[in-house]
Amino acid sequence: MAFALEYCSQHLLYPNQKLNERSKAMKKAHFAAMIAAGLLMTFPAQADEALAKAKLCMTCHKTDAKLIGPAYKDVAAKYKASDIPALTKKVLDGGSGVWGQVPMAPNKNPPYNVTEAEAKKLVTWILSLKK
Ligand code: HEC
Repeated sequence: MAFALEYCSQHLLYPNQKLNERSKAMKKAHFAAMIAAGLLMTFPAQADEALAKAKLCMTCHKTDAKLIGPAYKDVAAKYKASDIPALTKKVLDGGSGVWGQVPMAPNKNPPYNVTEAEAKKLVTWILSLKK
């Protein structure tokens, strides 16, 4: 409603030419926003790998080979989307016994300070690495 009022008053106050320029500028802005959204959709994997590096997951994990912890591709092969809540909890609290006796330290503690939202994002990314 407010927008309609503004649109009407602008239509009355400014000549048509001016309004056209305005809508052209708006189209340009929309186009730029769409490109930005497109880029974000093309590169989510890189963004989450960067988070995994920032949160030091990659000191114990690699995507395609076992390091101290299992390869993320092996984790992806073992689990499905319905396991995301349990794996999120495991990333936060740590634990052992699934891949061997070496434990994963609780990542919610310092120096990692991983939040629940970050853990969920990381687990979702890991499960997307299926072979
Ligand atoms: C100190 C080394 C270390 C760090 C740091 C580490 N992990 Fe792990 N991770 C392990 C080990 C060891 C295992 C295997 C645990 C087991 O056998 O139950 C594991 C297992 C996992 C699993 C599989 C869990 C399961 O029950 O199958 C996921 C998912 C995982 N890590 C994600 C992460 C993420 C995400 C981070 C960063 C926030 C991270 N890890 C940081 C060592 C580590």
